[in-house]
Amino acid sequence: MSDYRTLPPATMLSPVPAVLVSCRGVGEDARPNALAVAWTGTVCSHPPMVSISLKPERYSFELIRQSGEFVINAADAAHAKALDHCGVRSGRDGDKLKACGLEAVPMEGMACAPRLEGFPMSLGCRLRQEIPLGSHVLMLGEVTAVMIRDDLFDSDGSLHLERAGLVCYSHGVYQRASDVLGFFGWSVARPEVYQRRMEALGR
Ligand SMILES: Cc1cc2nc3c(=O)[nH]c(=O)nc-3n(C[C@H](O)[C@H](O)[C@H](O)COP(=O)(O)O)c2cc1C
Repeated sequence: MSDYRTLPPATMLSPVPAVLVSCRGVGEDARPNALAVAWTGTVCSHPPMVSISLKPERYSFELIRQSGEFVINAADAAHAKALDHCGVRSGRDGDKLKACGLEAVPMEGMACAPRLEGFPMSLGCRLRQEIPLGSHVLMLGEVTAVMIRDDLFDSDGSLHLERAGLVCYSHGVYQRASDVLGFFGWSVARPEVYQRRMEALGR
């Protein structure tokens, strides 16, 4: 039997996706903002729903509540530094997007919340429910639009998100998730299906 160590209870589940959540308040002088979020997840297929878990003291928390919208932008390595910056500075103290050279552009289906230009994938979400849990409030959003960068599609229309090299966050460390090991059902796939699918995945 392998040796293990027991640690005190903690949110050790790692790696998790690390995303930049963009938002904007309401009003004429409202400017866009974004924060890094590692506590995000998929919670329902029909309707398509995702979650973000935010501390109520985050500036973005107020903005998302005002507009009832947020956009989840999945980060790749090219945006990993901006992701970190937006996770250690608050929009209350200045324009983080400008500081990182990020451009907020209109997101399909959103009235207020922008997406971030150049990111591999953006999900436009309408805030449907808030669940206060303690330190964090779980915000459930219904995905109303998905925008994916064109270069991640093959000429036959198939999507290859695995080529984006999306960033994960693992216990204080950023990592790239681009190492393909298999595909859904590979453990039981027929040899010819396995070979065809793995070749399509560049393996
Ligand atoms: C990698 C990373 C992940 C983070 N994940 C979360 C998170 O899931 N929820 C949260 O409330 N804050 C999270 N933070 C902290 C916020 O991003 C940070 O407090 C940010 O400065 C808030 O910005 P704002 O005040 O402009 O909204 C994370 C920070 C980093 C660096």
